This record gives sequence, structure tokens and C-alpha cells, in this order.
Amino acid sequence: MKDSGDSKDQQLMVALRVRPISVAELEEGATLIAHKMDEQMVVLMDPMEDPDDILRAHRSREKSYLFDVAFDFTATQEMVYQATTKSLIEGVISGYNATVFAYGPTGCGKTYTMLGTDHEPGIYVRTLNDLFRAIEETSNDMEYEVSMSYLEIYNEMIRDLLNPALGYLELREDSKGVIQVAGITEVSTINAKEIMQLLMKGNRQRTQEPTAANQTSSRSHAVLQVAVRQRSRVKNILQEVRQGRLFMIDLAGSERASQTQNRGQRMKEGAHINRSLLALGNCINALSDKGSNKYINYRDSKLTRLLKDSLGGNSRTVMIAHISPASTAFEESRNTLTYAGRAKNIRTRVKQNHHHHHHH
Ligand SMILES: Nc1ncnc2c1ncn2[C@@H]1O[C@H](COP(=O)(O)OP(=O)(O)OP(=O)(O)O)[C@@H](O)[C@H]1O
Ligand SMILES: [Mg+2]
Repeated sequence: MKDSGDSKDQQLMVALRVRPISVAELEEGATLIAHKMDEQMVVLMDPMEDPDDILRAHRSREKSYLFDVAFDFTATQEMVYQATTKSLIEGVISGYNATVFAYGPTGCGKTYTMLGTDHEPGIYVRTLNDLFRAIEETSNDMEYEVSMSYLEIYNEMIRDLLNPALGYLELREDSKGVIQVAGITEVSTINAKEIMQLLMKGNRQRTQEPTAANQTSSRSHAVLQVAVRQRSRVKNILQEVRQGRLFMIDLAGSERASQTQNRGQRMKEGAHINRSLLALGNCINALSDKGSNKYINYRDSKLTRLLKDSLGGNSRTVMIAHISPASTAFEESRNTLTYAGRAKNIRTRVKQNHHHHHHH
């Protein structure tokens, strides 16, 4: 594999989605404190009211945050997909890597955005549909091989969601320095219906338990990986093969274990989930520290090893941060907005992956 020479710096794209307020939040007496002001700005109001607090009275009680794009309860699944992910497809089928990940506290809509429901499918299915369409449209000149895998990282262990019977899988680095999951099931179907069925089935295999904050809380990070190899059909002595990889990741909730009143198993889980998320946060911090040559420790967790290319290397990367608009979620929303704002400073270097093949 060689560097095509046309690599360019690219900033991480950060989107924010504020989900609709829930019935449970309304029943708790929550009010709306997160408001979308325009296409890029969201304002968060501090719900604490204490007229006797002189220090507080002199401080602004609202803070605004800027993103590449912001969505509120009026946004449809299609709008979120169009503004964040659709434009990555052309790159992936011509040999560029791309990553989309959903970040945020439990119950704020990560799984809704990525997987969605039968009636309101999310980014996974919309992306695969458009990817297969784009492949079909260029199939006169190009030959493609597509393979897809779906895994979860739970308690720092990797499980194949398309075949959980395989047990725990290991990460390996191949001769080109690309991280691979040894022995994972790879599916090469290009039928969109089949894919949705596979994903739904895979998602049911995912480790999921109710927490105080979300009845169907995902306790693991789920990673859908699509690899596309492209080769020109024109018969040449020298054939160029390009390979693009697309990661679509639904992270576990970013809340601290204590905030969901978890004990025992849930608590231990929290610590492991946090290990991957903490490592991700550390990488984001170090990467966003402009001008510094800080050492980035991707080896700290399975998630960051898998995402090494996406964060620090060769990938177009989109982060979709999620928050609740409710006053009861103020602290978590503020933390998430700060974290996501910091991520906006990350730059990645994107280049086409290709190598030459001799044909006889
Ligand atoms: N934009 C939205 N529109 C309508 N309903 C939504 C939206 N976002 C989330 N929900 C609903 O809110 C609930 C929690 O969402 P979801 O399970 O996606 O949260 P999560 O961020 O994946 O949480 P966890 O980290 O616990 O897995 C679900 O019932 C989901 O259908
Ligand atoms: Mg989830």
C-alpha cells in the first residue's frame, strides 16, 4: 500500500443532536433547558435558581456551544443522515476511510440515531442502502468487493454480534499496520433487506440491561465495519486496487457509574465502559491540543486501538454527540457539550489507500 500523495488535513466534524424530552422527564417535573438557536448553535441554561447566591447572580446563566451542525426534536432520521454521513460514501468507495460515532450519556438517543427502528431506520441502514446504490451506478467500470462485520466491546472484550458463539475475539495488527479482529464473521451481502435483518438480529445479541436512566440501555460499544475494495474493470497489466473502510459506532453511555445508581455488576461494567471512553477522551484531548507533540496512547483500550486510524490517522471522522433537553440532565449535558466542543479541534490526515496488482 502506498501514499497517493494527495492526502489532506481535515477537521473532525462534530454534530449535536438534542432528542425530544421524554414522558418520564416531564413526569419528574423537568423543564426544557437546551435550545437550538440556529443551524450550528445550541444554548444550555443552568437550571439552578438561587437569588441569594450573589456570585451566581453575576454570572451568565446560559452558555452557547457551536457545532458543525445542530439538530433538535424537529430533526428526522433522514436529515441527520444527510448532514453527517451521506457525503462520506463517495470517499469510501474510492478508497478513503471514514468513521461515524455516536457519543453521549445513557438514554440520549445514540442507538436511535445509529440503528433506529423498523419504521425510522438510522444511519446504519441508510448508509448501506446508498453505498450499494453508488456501487451499482458505477459497476460498469468498476468491480467491487464488500464485506461487513458487526462487533461489540463489552468489559474490554470483543464479541462477534453476527456469531456470538465464537466467544471472545482478539485484535491483531496486520503487516500494513491495519488493526484487524482475528476470526470475525465477514458478510458480503449487498441486499439491503438482508442487512437490516442481520443488524436487528445482531443488536438483539448485544449486551443490554435496563438502567435507572434507560429501559433498553446498551452496555457495550457496538461497531459496524464495512470494507469496500474497488478495482477497475478495464483490463490493464497494472491494476489498481483501492480499499476504503467505514466504521459506524454506537458507544455505550458516557455517564459515570455512580450517576445511574448502579451496584455490583453494573458498577464493574461502568468501570470497563469508562476505560474505553476515558481512553477515547484522553486521545481526543491530546489530539486537540494544537501544536503539541503529545504522545497519544491508543493502546489503553480496545476501542481506541480499533479507532486509531479514525482519530489520529487516515480517516474522515464524524462525531454525533447526543443530549437530553431536560433540566434534570443539566450536568451530563454540560459535560457532553464541553467534550464535544473540544473534539472539534482534532485534525486528521486523509489519504487514499491503494496498491498495485499485476494481472496475467
Ligand atoms: N430523536 C429521537 N426521537 C424520538 N425518540 C428518541 C430519539 N432519541 C431517542 N429516542 C428514544 O429515547 C430512548 C432512549 O434512546 P436510546 O436507546 O437511543 O439511547 P442511548 O443513547 O442509546 O442510551 P444507552 O447509552 O443507555 O444505550 C429510546 O426509547 C428512543 O427510542
Ligand atoms: Mg444505546
